[in-house]
Amino acid sequence: MEKKFVTAILLAAGSGSRMGAEQTKKRMSILGKTVLRRSAEALACCDDIDAIVVTVRSDETEFAASELADISKVIKIIPGGKIRAESAKLAFEAIPQNTDYVAIHDAARCLVTRDMVKRVVDTAKACGAATAGRFVSDTVKRISTDGIITETIPRGELFLASTPQVFATEIYKKALAETDITESVTDDNSLVEKLGYPIRIVDVGGENIKITTKEDIDYAELIIIKRGREKVEQRIGHGYDVHRFAEDRKLILGGVDVPFEKGLLGHSDADVLCHAIMDALLGAAALGDIGRHFPDTDEAYRGISSIELVKRVKALLDSSGYKIVNVDATLVMQRPKIAPYINEMISNLSSALGVEASSVNIKATTEEKLGFTGSGEGAAAHAVCMIEK
Ligand code: CTP
Ligand code: MG
Repeated sequence: MEKKFVTAILLAAGSGSRMGAEQTKKRMSILGKTVLRRSAEALACCDDIDAIVVTVRSDETEFAASELADISKVIKIIPGGKIRAESAKLAFEAIPQNTDYVAIHDAARCLVTRDMVKRVVDTAKACGAATAGRFVSDTVKRISTDGIITETIPRGELFLASTPQVFATEIYKKALAETDITESVTDDNSLVEKLGYPIRIVDVGGENIKITTKEDIDYAELIIIKRGREKVEQRIGHGYDVHRFAEDRKLILGGVDVPFEKGLLGHSDADVLCHAIMDALLGAAALGDIGRHFPDTDEAYRGISSIELVKRVKALLDSSGYKIVNVDATLVMQRPKIAPYINEMISNLSSALGVEASSVNIKATTEEKLGFTGSGEGAAAHAVCMIEK
């Protein structure tokens, strides 16, 4: 599918009057991080969001700029309007021209997660308009002004809309052009509803609360603590490999062609370092070893670049739902000195593994001329890694 450009609009221009606090909600810190920062991070860490336009009160632009300085997806911080819908409109006018979809989000919903954002964006991409929200679990009553129940509203017909609310740019543009903005427009769906355009709901559950009163801050803390406790499954792996030196072979280590009088012998390019790392990764994921996945009896692997095989191992881990945390490996070799090539090896391996260079460490040692590595008969490599789900 063709890549669509999605711009998030982060609405943070409110005053937080119902909170009754001295500072606005976005400045409030929940467990060490401000509401504004939490919302911006959740949007920024979602791969589907390409850019973020933030709207704040004009007296808070400096605060927002310093609070969000290191989030590169934040491309603009602009002053908002008097009411929410006006802030959304002003931000919409500031989105990049190539925006295919807008994802409008209340900064006050700072417990939104990357997954929630992704689900709503995916749904909008499929049908033009989608909103986060949740079904109603309480029994809902209509009441009179003097506090008497007048009617029970069948809850099966009800849905509580939250944010993000995501629309194809053209749809939202048309909705803005055709409807007057008033205080009664408390979300973005209402404008699009008036167009008669169907908006698909996405049930994101009860944790996407809007920080409105002090009680919500306590509740948000509990949710954040609970999420922290939800265990990440971490696993370690170990790999070890040896290859014999031979004449008329290239010496390939970590995908680098290292100048030397001999090379390592093997069915593939005999990159002993890559092999140890692949075995560590496969071991951590309980996926066996390289012999099982890339047997040396298979002609398909004759002379193959081991960096290519590393990419395939990474794909196997991806499909098992594992993320690579770090890799540490040691080459055991008397000669040649590999220090000048380590950075290039790290760069090859980190890009094949789809991780930052800082997640890969390569080092080397001799064995003081002892044993088969010391005599120059062969080279060995050890690797350990951590992966998580
Ligand atoms: N918002 C905005 N511009 C406004 C009013 C509100 O961008 N003129 C934003 C708020 O910052 C918030 C979201 O819209 O993230 C939802 O509004 P609400 O929860 O009502 O927040 P506040 O207006 O700040 O709070 P209150 O209504 O209690 O004053
Ligand atoms: Mg408000």
